[in-house]
Amino acid sequence: MPADATATGVRHLYVTTPLYYVNGEPHLGSAYTILICDTVARFYRQRGYDTYFLTGTDEHGDKIAEAAAAAGEEPKAYADRISAIFRSTWEQSGLAYDRFIRTTDADHIRTVQEILQQVYDAGDIYFGSYGGLYCKGCERFYTEKELVDGKCPDHRTTPDFIAEDNYFFRMGKYQERLLTALAAKPDLVRPERYRNEVLAMLREPLEDLCISRPKSRLTWGIEMPFDDRFVTYVWFDALINYVTAVRSLGRERCDALWPAAQHFIAKDILKPHAIYWPTMLMAAGLPLYDHLNVHGYWTVDGQKMSKSLGNVVRPLDMQAKYGRDAFRYVLLRESVFGLDADFREDALVTRINADLANNVGNLVSRTLSMQHKYFAGAVQPLGEQRPEDAALAAAFAAAAREVDAQVAELMLSRALEAIFRAADHANKYIVETAPFTLARDPATKPRVGAILHNLLEALRSTAQLAAPFIPETATRIVELLNLPADALRVPGAAWGTAFPAGHVVRKPVPLFPRIEA
Ligand code: MSP
Repeated sequence: MPADATATGVRHLYVTTPLYYVNGEPHLGSAYTILICDTVARFYRQRGYDTYFLTGTDEHGDKIAEAAAAAGEEPKAYADRISAIFRSTWEQSGLAYDRFIRTTDADHIRTVQEILQQVYDAGDIYFGSYGGLYCKGCERFYTEKELVDGKCPDHRTTPDFIAEDNYFFRMGKYQERLLTALAAKPDLVRPERYRNEVLAMLREPLEDLCISRPKSRLTWGIEMPFDDRFVTYVWFDALINYVTAVRSLGRERCDALWPAAQHFIAKDILKPHAIYWPTMLMAAGLPLYDHLNVHGYWTVDGQKMSKSLGNVVRPLDMQAKYGRDAFRYVLLRESVFGLDADFREDALVTRINADLANNVGNLVSRTLSMQHKYFAGAVQPLGEQRPEDAALAAAFAAAAREVDAQVAELMLSRALEAIFRAADHANKYIVETAPFTLARDPATKPRVGAILHNLLEALRSTAQLAAPFIPETATRIVELLNLPADALRVPGAAWGTAFPAGHVVRKPVPLFPRIEA
């Protein structure tokens, strides 16, 4: 669960994606992290939390300067162009973030320089010489021990030996405090496997961090405020974005949101987020984030996604082919937070047909068509609850509890399972109560009205529970039910109170047509 309520009684949640490098375009992996953030933000927003959701692009450093040069462009013009592609992809994907930050934004540059100056004044930044093995892909120095056969374990390239004078952050000084913080809050970094990785990193003495690059080698960065011969190391720059964004909201909201910060990343950038960032926060006298949530890596048909293999999955292509909600659903349903996942288009089609078309899609169309066939769309009195009606209501109540618990633990696929189990219960309820048979006899027609009323409640609950995961579908269901959009808020009306007798629902339209393989 996000941080506790403040004195005002309003609860807060601040979610962040990594700032994506502008040396490539959005793909399945970048889409996944932002989709998880979007879902979690929607979930708590729906429950009345003050939420703030941040994403953006990381634009400085060697890697971007090189990519710009390769494209024959100036770094800023190049970053403008690629950053705009990210932004437009996320907008076209319907992601509801509050700010798209760029590390080239003026307020960010100011915040980075303020923090650098503050840490420098406090004596935690010093000037020194250093020689080390530098991987440009990772934008960091490696120790011999971290290399595999002398190569960067991520990029499989041999790092360059670089020796130069630079500024260093006294990261080592904070090792004990970081260990204390990790012990005090066992799920600060979660799931646990990544906490264990961090603890393993901290078993070695923590070295100080080189946080500058001489302009003789790199000019594309934020200038060190106390020495204009240097620019800031890209990670020291980028991580601070999380603070820049909330500071821009004013003191009060910043103070409320910052302790409720939840960063979402994949395992590739665990070290900067679990070690550099908290020690930077300590040096800057700021509280730590609430959670660092670390997910696994997506492969495609069992292989690493790469341009050379030609298997890069583009979110906009998938959404154009299958629909936004179907794509969201499959990514969230086919992964367990923290573990690696494999994307296969055939599995996507199976999921869409089984869960979206056959289960929820069918429930919507059967219920609404019977409502129209037997009662011209007008809702009938609920009547006395029979055991099977109570069991249906109980199935949704149980799903609601399970969804809350699973989302709090980021087990989004389990939350979806719970929702679809309840919808499946409703489909079985139709078979069991057989309204189509009862409708033949005028004496049992009132019971048909009651059954359909229960089913409309099931649809309303399905939409309400599924809204953070498949928001467009939830909205369409509510529209078909002819209810106002706030029917999706939590908590909503109690079972049996959302539809007054005589309320007319709309005629069904297919939500998810079956996809032929
Ligand atoms: N710019 C840094 C982050 C700075 S944050 C202050 C960076 N950028 S990145 O463009 O390389 O993005 C890495 C992130 O993209 C991962 O942590 C993850 O969120 C996402 N993913 C990239 N490829 C991925 C997969 N194949 N699978 C899952 N997520 C992936 O690192």
